[in-house]
Amino acid sequence: MKYFIVTYGCQMNVHESEKIAGILEKMGYECGESREEADIIVFNTCAIREGAEDRVFGNVGALKKQKKRNKDLIIVVCGCMTQKEKTAKYLLTTFPFVDIVLGTFNITKLEEYIHKVKNGRQLELWAEGNIDETLPYKRTSGENAWVNIMQGCNNFCTYCIVPYVRGREKSRQEEAILNEVRKIVAEKKYKKITLLGQNVNSYGKDLEPQVSFSQLLKDICAIEGDFEVGFMTSHPKDLTDDLIDTIASQPKIEKNIHLPAQSGDNRILKLMNRKYTREHYLSIIKKIKDKIPNARITSDFIVGFPTETEEEFERTLSLVNEVRYDSIFAFMYSPREGTVASTMEGQISDKVKHERVNKLIALEKKIQKEDNKS
Ligand code: 5AD
Ligand code: SF4
Repeated sequence: MKYFIVTYGCQMNVHESEKIAGILEKMGYECGESREEADIIVFNTCAIREGAEDRVFGNVGALKKQKKRNKDLIIVVCGCMTQKEKTAKYLLTTFPFVDIVLGTFNITKLEEYIHKVKNGRQLELWAEGNIDETLPYKRTSGENAWVNIMQGCNNFCTYCIVPYVRGREKSRQEEAILNEVRKIVAEKKYKKITLLGQNVNSYGKDLEPQVSFSQLLKDICAIEGDFEVGFMTSHPKDLTDDLIDTIASQPKIEKNIHLPAQSGDNRILKLMNRKYTREHYLSIIKKIKDKIPNARITSDFIVGFPTETEEEFERTLSLVNEVRYDSIFAFMYSPREGTVASTMEGQISDKVKHERVNKLIALEKKIQKEDNKS
């Protein structure tokens, strides 16, 4: 029996698919080469932008024929999209051949539902819980081992669906993380460990006693062995001087800092509920550059946020010019149902969003070219 997993979205999802693979292998399934030869196909979905959701609908829809040929094929859809009740129900009604729909917290029930599926379709959504420490991972990212340190997000940036589909921030116990890292290091198969969370800088604030992210990094670095440790993603509002000092002083910590700015304009940042200003953001960048001269700094930007004027967009361009990032991800704002920004007046046309995203990408390319030359 073979499985095939299709993963959309961020590294959290990539890592969660490693857990899904672990569950399936424990059940006796083997990893298949393609969808066509699979007995079970899992779509681990992303809801961050409309485009990501459309791709899932297209790819799930394309399985209709395969399911007709092979009635025993099991099709599972899970991940962030299914955590939205409306979308989950839409999936079930539009694609009657989908067998199991699970929310982000219920993946632990996959085995149970595979056994039950002969009795009919299975749907189970929101049920907030803790990370299940007992489930195995099948690590698939080569020399890099992902380690989840927290779930969820408390920030409610007004454009973002994540807090709605991933719940509130919940940190893993430090000892559990350290044990996982010790195990990974002992295996000697991985050169790099990447810590994952939507907002790693606020790690440990919900623990008793509290542990700071910088302390967690120091404790990981104290584990003996030859490895590098990286992390993503940082929120500028929580990036402390202490953390910058830790990154600078610990040789095991990778000097890559992904620090999403989203916009270079203070009015838009406020509307986005990002809780920092352009000036504050630039002061952090300056500290990073002063203390970690070889740092590789990257960022995310959203263009065409509701009411964004041409001048406000140009302040994003000028921020990119000022920071001279090593690379950026530029996204066109995509309204997500249920978020505050999706109901704001002054939505920007697709045409303008395209123009702005192209300008931003062209600027970044120009900067990279110049910096590569120098
Ligand atoms: N529209 C466009 N981009 C978004 N992002 C998050 N939500 C949206 C949205 N509604 C971007 C942000 C974030 C990255 C992972 O995705 O830039 O940092
Ligand atoms: Fe979304 Fe903001 Fe949380 Fe990042 S910090 S996951 S953009 S709400």
